[in-house]
Amino acid sequence: MTAPLDPTHPSVPGGSRNIQAIRGMHDLLPERVGTWQRLEDTARQVLERYGYAEIRTPLVELTELFKRSIGEVTDIVEKEMYSFADRNGDSLSLRPEGTASCVRAVIENGLLNQSQRLWYRGPMFRHERPQRGRYRQFHQIGVEVFGLAGPDIDLEVILLTARLWRALGLDGLRLEINSLGDAAERAAYREELVCYLDRYRDRLDADSQRRLTTNPLRVLDSKSPETQAIVAAAPSLMDRLETQTRDHFAAICAGLDAAAVPYCVNPRLVRGLDYYNRTVFEWITDDLGAQGTVCAGGRYDGLVAQLGGRDTAAVGFAMGIERLVELMELTGEGAAPQLDAYFVAVGEWAQRQAPVLAERLRDAAPGVRLMTHCGGGSFKSQFKRADKSGARYALVIGDSELERGVIGVKALREEAEQQELPLAATAAFLSASQQST
Ligand code: HAM
Repeated sequence: MTAPLDPTHPSVPGGSRNIQAIRGMHDLLPERVGTWQRLEDTARQVLERYGYAEIRTPLVELTELFKRSIGEVTDIVEKEMYSFADRNGDSLSLRPEGTASCVRAVIENGLLNQSQRLWYRGPMFRHERPQRGRYRQFHQIGVEVFGLAGPDIDLEVILLTARLWRALGLDGLRLEINSLGDAAERAAYREELVCYLDRYRDRLDADSQRRLTTNPLRVLDSKSPETQAIVAAAPSLMDRLETQTRDHFAAICAGLDAAAVPYCVNPRLVRGLDYYNRTVFEWITDDLGAQGTVCAGGRYDGLVAQLGGRDTAAVGFAMGIERLVELMELTGEGAAPQLDAYFVAVGEWAQRQAPVLAERLRDAAPGVRLMTHCGGGSFKSQFKRADKSGARYALVIGDSELERGVIGVKALREEAEQQELPLAATAAFLSASQQST
């Protein structure tokens, strides 16, 4: 077939078709950025208060890393990775999560001779079916702690998340926890579970039938009502735990009780990634529809050794920024970026002076967010812009104000007389009004 001659046809290189963002990958527009920043800033402050240090790792890793850590027969590795061949033939993948990269980084950089409390944030990539709360590029803030084996650190990371929700004003989140036991306990349980489920094989949903041989614990987490009914009567891993694992879990529960953080033990809580042992937990909301888990994690004591490092206990979690931002917006905890003042200058002289005066105001009132009008125009049109900018005040100068050495200060969001103040007083006024909000 010959190529179409129409230059607007999508298949013609350089055709005028609008290029759109990739499905499931979204622009973050200014109107939402304020809420993202509020979440990110608050999370950073909370994490710093607990002594966690930030780590930044590459967005791309060898595919092998994710296969060996997340697990060959997980949804992520089987069907959701963005993998491609590098120019030298290496198979690379966009990171679908942050834990594997962190583990690689701490091994590679020799950070395991002492315990580490690390956090990270950034984009992750999974080729999932996009829907509300589920995207192909999404963002996480995560924590990984290395070298601490006791229940005290599991408790700490959970308490830290509870503190973050309080700081963000999110009070409708439910904490579910479970213990997946250690490798040997899980292996024994797996056999018992397969034996039980096998009796109902024909009634299990297709995915669960497949998982029965590949990853039977994931059957516990099936969404199919018929499978769920079968699973409800299945033996429970919690009942098969040895004393040490049981004590570990009990200590976390006792700590949560003592800290008055409500939780629910969910014996069906298994995670979609293979590396967990012992503690797993999720924070869930009912306000976001099907994708209600806003934060999830647990212990993964075997992973560092599995990836070639020294035997090191580890625990962590990651929260989904998009889901939390949506929840913040729904519950009125969103934050619009707010300007304090918009500088209007009418006439040639004033327009020449405005940038200089605005700089002096910024020097004198460092925390104040001041936007200067650019592009000239009548007083009316500039004032309209001031109003639209969302600023609380318009600062106005023209020939008359310049002659008298004052700036007109007009409140845009409340009834108040316009004032005329010298520059230093204007700066003080804006600083004080900012602190009063
Ligand atoms: P995960 O459960 O795969 O765990 O993801 C953690 C959180 O990231 C989820 O609870 C959800 O809020 C968010 N999330 C996951 N996938 C998507 C998506 N497609 N769209 C939007 N949000 C999403 C992990 O990633 C583990 N690395 C957590 C961890 C860290 N465990 C130990 N350390």
